[in-house]
Amino acid sequence: MASARSVAGRLAEAADLVTVALDELLPRADGAEARVVEAMRYATLGPGKRIRPFFALEAARLFDVDERAVLRAACALECIHTYSLIHDDLPAMDDDELRRGRPTVHIAYDQATAILAGDALQAFAFEILADPDTHDDPDIRAELILRLARASGALGMVGGQMIDLMGLGNDLGQVARMQRMKTGALVCYAFEIPAVIADAREAERHALLGFAQDLGLAYQITDDLLDVEGDPGRLGKAVGKDRDRGKANFVTLLGIEAARERVQVLADQAKGRLEIFGANADSLKDSLDFVLERTV
Ligand code: IPE
Ligand code: IPE
Ligand code: MG
Ligand code: MG
Ligand code: MG
Repeated sequence: MASARSVAGRLAEAADLVTVALDELLPRADGAEARVVEAMRYATLGPGKRIRPFFALEAARLFDVDERAVLRAACALECIHTYSLIHDDLPAMDDDELRRGRPTVHIAYDQATAILAGDALQAFAFEILADPDTHDDPDIRAELILRLARASGALGMVGGQMIDLMGLGNDLGQVARMQRMKTGALVCYAFEIPAVIADAREAERHALLGFAQDLGLAYQITDDLLDVEGDPGRLGKAVGKDRDRGKANFVTLLGIEAARERVQVLADQAKGRLEIFGANADSLKDSLDFVLERTV
């Protein structure tokens, strides 16, 4: 099926779709509060890879679903992801000054504005999902909202960020749990979007969830590898941060080779989980390989 076009081409196309949709959805800077709206737009419309929305759109091709609904929900997910990055970069967290090749929000604006822009992006994500324009079935809207709330909150991304900041010693099991929460939960949500909208069968949801969990963990290990081996110019963010800050992750605990092997094992395992979809899942498997081989 879709694999006729290259993964790079499909990713670039999805990224454009998402950026145009976000530009239309986000409020326009106006009135005395314009500064926070400008900061929201600055962060969200910057050159992110849009990996999570891309996977939502890719997985949607397995089903007969309205792409517009998937795109809007994927924009909500990207708003949560962007808010998580704005806060992740704050001095109280990772204290980073460069993101997506540009000054982080607290550098371009100030800390208070960065906190508020993250807060407002979080609220805005749920506003998009609750809007009847996203889907006319209120049960589907409610399920999209519930699942995003769970993926973002204390037992999802936020909880994972808490564990990351507290440090974990050298317990690999705990590191895997932290990664599943801080990165895996939002990656899993990307696949839940089309499954919820398509009212997918339990077996299909289960297969997609397994794929997403492996991908999410492998994606964060790749990020941790790039923190050691990556080119900051290409990545658009600083490198060497995790070791300097004594972070516990697969790379700092196991070293580069073992972490790379772990990514490979997870990638193979992930692809094996999609058997139920037959050849229809081929482009999803190609996308996984492409994303994990990334250098940007
Ligand atoms: C960075 O996410 C933080 C992680 C959870 C790995 P991405 O690498 O997807 O960042 P952007 O959205 O492309 O900037
Ligand atoms: C960020 O992980 C994860 C979230 C924002 C949830 P990192 O702290 O490793 O991400 P980068 O390296 O700053 O992009
Ligand atoms: Mg961090
Ligand atoms: Mg960080
Ligand atoms: Mg990192």
